Amino acid sequence: MAERVRWGVLGVARIATLKVIPAMQAGQWTEVAAIASRDIMKARAAAGALHIPKAYGSYEELLADPDIDAIYNPLPNHLHVPWTIRAAQARKHVLCEKPIALNADEAAGLIAVRDAAGVLIQEAFMVRTHPQWQRAKELVRSGRIGPVRSIVGVFSYFNDDPTNIRNIPEWGGGGIMDIGCYLIHTARFILDREPLRVAAAIERDPSLRVDRLASMVLDFGDAQVTGTCATQTVPWQRVQILGTRGRIEIEIPFNALPDRPSRIFVDDGSDIAGAGIETMALPAVNQYTIQADLFSRAILDGAPAPYPLEDSIRNMRVIDAVFRAAESGQWEIPA
Ligand SMILES: NC(=O)c1ccc[n+]([C@@H]2O[C@H](COP(=O)([O-])OP(=O)(O)OC[C@H]3O[C@@H](n4cnc5c(N)ncnc54)[C@H](OP(=O)(O)O)[C@@H]3O)[C@@H](O)[C@H]2O)c1
Repeated sequence: MAERVRWGVLGVARIATLKVIPAMQAGQWTEVAAIASRDIMKARAAAGALHIPKAYGSYEELLADPDIDAIYNPLPNHLHVPWTIRAAQARKHVLCEKPIALNADEAAGLIAVRDAAGVLIQEAFMVRTHPQWQRAKELVRSGRIGPVRSIVGVFSYFNDDPTNIRNIPEWGGGGIMDIGCYLIHTARFILDREPLRVAAAIERDPSLRVDRLASMVLDFGDAQVTGTCATQTVPWQRVQILGTRGRIEIEIPFNALPDRPSRIFVDDGSDIAGAGIETMALPAVNQYTIQADLFSRAILDGAPAPYPLEDSIRNMRVIDAVFRAAESGQWEIPA
């Protein structure tokens, strides 16, 4: 294999063309070698604008290219598993956008495909490798805030465009799938275990039918996580991690900006007005560059994926339980 992993991109998704491809191109081990679209004109336009050498007018042609090592899959959610399977069967490693599937059972089907093809498959939860989450986890591990008892998270934006993929229920639309998944993912990452049971309330847009407001309680026994995600409110995001002796606040937990330091606040609680807060500013990084480079490096080294597929399936099991709990009005056990 070449010095850099040669990537191909499925579709000209906004996240790909605006954020992930430019970030990948800044990577040390990552080269974006081709892009495919269902429309060759769109593929050529994106390739020209982003200086990508090859453009294909179908996803099949990209997967048939022997000079492509890995695929980035930013298709709508209902196409994540089908095209990840096709890419793996073409012996390509796959970094697939979140959420990796429509539900845990669909995600679980990827394990056999991955193992049969001998490729890496990873869900693109870029937040996990951002230094601010790594630092938060180190602080928790070091005992700085005492045992974690509560995590409170909010993630919201406003988007009621009926043509947006997020507002089409059959395509895996809705706030829980789009952004609630981050609240669950990061809480499980910090606590390093699975919730015992889940309760939730969901309000759906009456015409779009997707969840536009959802709140969840994840019960981890001696710790509880409460999260709200909303797709028709003012944009905002914050995570608070409360221990017995201190609190960690992550200022921009999910869409950390690549052009300025990320800040986390560590509060010893000694002063209600915040005099006891220590501000930690982490140097500006692009979390999509880090994500792609770590995945590329794992491919080059023949190492396992940095974020295992098995963990993605556990995350999906919690998402499934959130939907079940909102429906049943009862606690549901992720299983
Ligand atoms: N990690 C993150 O920070 C982040 C941020 C935003 C979104 N995402 C994820 O990235 C994915 C894409 O989101 P996006 O907002 O970028 O989507 P988008 O702009 O709507 O793009 C989706 C792409 O999928 C392709 N596609 C194939 N079949 C399609 C169909 N039947 N209908 C519509 N598009 C189809 C299209 O490419 P062609 O027309 O070129 O074939 C289209 O450009 C989602 O899974 C989302 O959850 C992740």
